[in-house]
Amino acid sequence: MPVHGLTPILLCLLHVWIIPSPASSHPQLSECRLIQRTALCNDAKLSSVPPGLPRNIEELQLNYNHIQTLQDDSLLRYPSLTSLSVACNSLEKLESNTFQDLSLLESLNLANNNLYIGYPETSQALKKLPGLKVLDLSENKLEDEMAATLLQNLTSLEYLNLSGNLLRRLDETSFRDLNKLKELNLQRNIIFEIDGAFASNSKLQRLNLAFNNLPCLTDFHMTHLVVLNASHNFIEWFISRQDLNDTFQLETLDLSDNKLLFFPFLPSHSHLRNLYLSHNSLRFYEQLADNATSPNATTTVEFYNLRKYASNVTAELWDDSLHGDVSSLEILDLRGNQVEYFPYGFIQKMPFLSRLQMCTNCLKSLNLTYEQFPGSLYELDISNNRLKQVVADEGTLAVLGNLTYFNLSLNDLEWLPPRFFSSLPSLRSVDLSYNHIDICLSEEAEISTDLVSSCVDWRNVVSLGQLYLKGCNLELIPSSAFAGLSLTHLELSDNPGLVLQSIQSLSRTLQHLGLGNTHIQDFDFSHLKNLKFLNISRNSLAHLSPSLLTLDLKVLDLRDNRLSTIPHGLANALAPNLQIVFLTGNPFNCCQTEWFRAFEKSKTIQMVGLSDIECEDPVRTQQLQHLESSVCFNEAGESIYWYILLFVSISLSFVGISVMVLLTFKPQMLKKSIKKKCLKSTSY
Ligand SMILES: *[C@@H]1O[C@H](CO)[C@@H](O)[C@H](O)[C@H]1NC(C)=O
Ligand SMILES: *[C@@H]1O[C@H](CO)[C@@H](O)[C@H](O)[C@H]1NC(C)=O
Ligand SMILES: *[C@@H]1O[C@H](CO)[C@@H](O)[C@H](O)[C@H]1NC(C)=O
Ligand SMILES: *[C@@H]1O[C@H](CO)[C@@H](O)[C@H](O)[C@H]1NC(C)=O
Ligand SMILES: *[C@@H]1O[C@H](CO)[C@@H](O)[C@H](O)[C@H]1NC(C)=O
Ligand SMILES: *[C@@H]1O[C@H](CO)[C@@H](O)[C@H](O)[C@H]1NC(C)=O
Ligand SMILES: *[C@@H]1O[C@H](CO)[C@@H](O)[C@H](O)[C@H]1NC(C)=O
Ligand SMILES: *[C@@H]1O[C@H](CO)[C@@H](O)[C@H](O)[C@H]1NC(C)=O
Ligand SMILES: *[C@@H]1O[C@H](CO)[C@@H](O)[C@H](O)[C@H]1NC(C)=O
Ligand SMILES: *[C@@H]1O[C@H](CO)[C@@H](O)[C@H](O)[C@H]1NC(C)=O
Ligand SMILES: *[C@@H]1O[C@H](CO)[C@@H](O)[C@H](O)[C@H]1NC(C)=O
Repeated sequence: MPVHGLTPILLCLLHVWIIPSPASSHPQLSECRLIQRTALCNDAKLSSVPPGLPRNIEELQLNYNHIQTLQDDSLLRYPSLTSLSVACNSLEKLESNTFQDLSLLESLNLANNNLYIGYPETSQALKKLPGLKVLDLSENKLEDEMAATLLQNLTSLEYLNLSGNLLRRLDETSFRDLNKLKELNLQRNIIFEIDGAFASNSKLQRLNLAFNNLPCLTDFHMTHLVVLNASHNFIEWFISRQDLNDTFQLETLDLSDNKLLFFPFLPSHSHLRNLYLSHNSLRFYEQLADNATSPNATTTVEFYNLRKYASNVTAELWDDSLHGDVSSLEILDLRGNQVEYFPYGFIQKMPFLSRLQMCTNCLKSLNLTYEQFPGSLYELDISNNRLKQVVADEGTLAVLGNLTYFNLSLNDLEWLPPRFFSSLPSLRSVDLSYNHIDICLSEEAEISTDLVSSCVDWRNVVSLGQLYLKGCNLELIPSSAFAGLSLTHLELSDNPGLVLQSIQSLSRTLQHLGLGNTHIQDFDFSHLKNLKFLNISRNSLAHLSPSLLTLDLKVLDLRDNRLSTIPHGLANALAPNLQIVFLTGNPFNCCQTEWFRAFEKSKTIQMVGLSDIECEDPVRTQQLQHLESSVCFNEAGESIYWYILLFVSISLSFVGISVMVLLTFKPQMLKKSIKKKCLKSTSY
């Protein structure tokens, strides 16, 4: 696991930043700082507990020191302590009487130490804390037996953190005495089996099992649990006990990043509100079951507990109605699965569904009328599926009055219900990028009365603020397209050859305009007074529109054009407000770089990919950032190199011509000189 151990490192950094260096206000305790009854002795190179602190301190922090042992007498002087933190030391053991007079201690943080070495004695020490509620033992290389030993008799414990240890198997002995436990963090261990481990923890409400090696969770019957996080394991099956009549208190179940093949078999009665199932291999199989005409076909799977046969579990494989109680669901996250369809009545069972995240699945069609989406639906993300069409009748659309975010990008959409978006009064953000849609010309929309329409239109959707239409092969956007809208975001990038008629109607509201890779030239931006983000990259622009002068842009993308310079006046006008600018991929002229200095001078501008911004002069291409003062001849930017080159070539030609003339008209001179040389060289 590459991320193993990241949390404590972050924690360490955090402390280093938050806690100021030893203050001078208490010179007598140079390594500690006192704030009321709290002593902060973090990161002070201590190898033992400092003895000179006030006797009445209630909280003592000794993180990031070099303490190896807490001795019997280490804390004798501080009987009022309620909270002690010795995280990130090299603590190997706590002597058995360390806490003999600390009956008030409630919170103990021993994270990130080496307690695996002296755990038996440490365990004796912990037993003397009758009121301990919070214990952090994360990152101590603890194995199963060590943890069990350390936790013996800690009957008052409510919060326990064992994350980042070496636990493999949990059973009934693991947490037997912790019958007040409310919250247990077991993240980032190597747990592969859980067998009757939580039977004595009837108060447990929050359990985190993320980043372990669990292959399945069957026979789930922890009715008091409110939050279960089992993400990032290898779970193929989640099956809760189906014969229980009790209502499970479960509200949040996180099974994302596992290997689920089936929708989890949820409790038959629960208050489950948030179900996270992203990045599994989940799909529905009802259609398969209908096809399974072969009499021997398996329709159930049975799980045997190999040790004691204590709890065999049978699951009906193809029965999609057996997914349990989903009637309280508000968030259903199914991103990155293989869902092709929803079983009959599935969505209907969730009258409070607010967010449905279906991005990156295999949906082929979606009939909103058939599925009966509830009026509570707020966000619908069906991007990156295989949808060719979305179907809905007027009645259905009237119900979806709360739908606010609608992502349809990355499908093969050609057909949508007519006046689709106009029928959704709360719509704020629509993403239709990477589909094959067209924008209705004004007449088309009015005459179309079919059930489906091949063009889309948003006229008069007053609530609409963000419209994404990237990569839709759009050719013409009529000026009527945005009538009655108050868009703040308009993304039209990746529509090469786009003809954009006036967007004057958006001049008061538009803040973000994407026109990258549209081959657009000479667009007049001057009326877009509120524009903050402009993308005009990849448009082969040789010069910038003077209308940019009037804008107060914060982000400007000019990458991959043919710009040789940015006019001085424009650069100076942009510099005060600009925060991020993209400039790479332009053939800038090294002799016209005043603009660069203007941008460099402004401390607020971040030039993305600064080291890749290059300029050219006749001799070479160099980094604008490290421009060696190119000798440039005049303001027009003609380099003196040109003149030198010109001079040299003229001189050379002159010499050449002279030689030829000499050769032609005075051949005897040549002969003479050769003769002279020959005579000399042979004289020996
Ligand atoms: C500690 O727990 C064990 C069983 O786990 C029990 O036998 C023993 O009496 C307990 N000791 C104290 C001091 O509570
Ligand atoms: C351990 O878990 C507790 C809550 O259970 C949390 O407050 C603490 O920050 C966690 N410690 C680490 C090192 O993650
Ligand atoms: C589950 O744990 C993972 C890893 O710590 C975390 O990223 C995720 O947000 C948690 N899930 C929930 C629902 O809190
Ligand atoms: C659950 O309730 C049903 C009827 O409501 C009853 O027949 C059954 O025995 C109950 N099961 C348990 C385990 O209580
Ligand atoms: C078999 O399943 C396919 C979908 O996978 C379905 O289209 C077809 O109608 C089914 N055939 C029968 C006989 O149920
Ligand atoms: C079905 O079961 C019968 C008897 O149990 C067996 O003879 C037959 O080969 C099986 N058919 C298939 C397709 O497995
Ligand atoms: C579990 O299954 C095994 C094997 O079929 C069986 O011997 C055992 O009695 C079953 N246990 C229970 C509790 O049903
Ligand atoms: C959509 O579902 C409704 C209600 O079940 C049905 O009447 C209609 O024919 C379906 N439309 C399509 C195109 O499947
Ligand atoms: C729509 O949203 C509002 C405000 O969040 C809420 O009060 C209302 O109940 C929702 N409508 C439906 C049908 O759920
Ligand atoms: C829509 O979904 C795509 C793909 O999942 C994502 O890249 C894009 O950012 C989403 N659009 C919005 C506006 O969130
Ligand atoms: C600008 O548009 C281009 C072309 O679609 C895209 O590659 C680039 O990421 C966009 N720039 C920003 C800053 O979003």
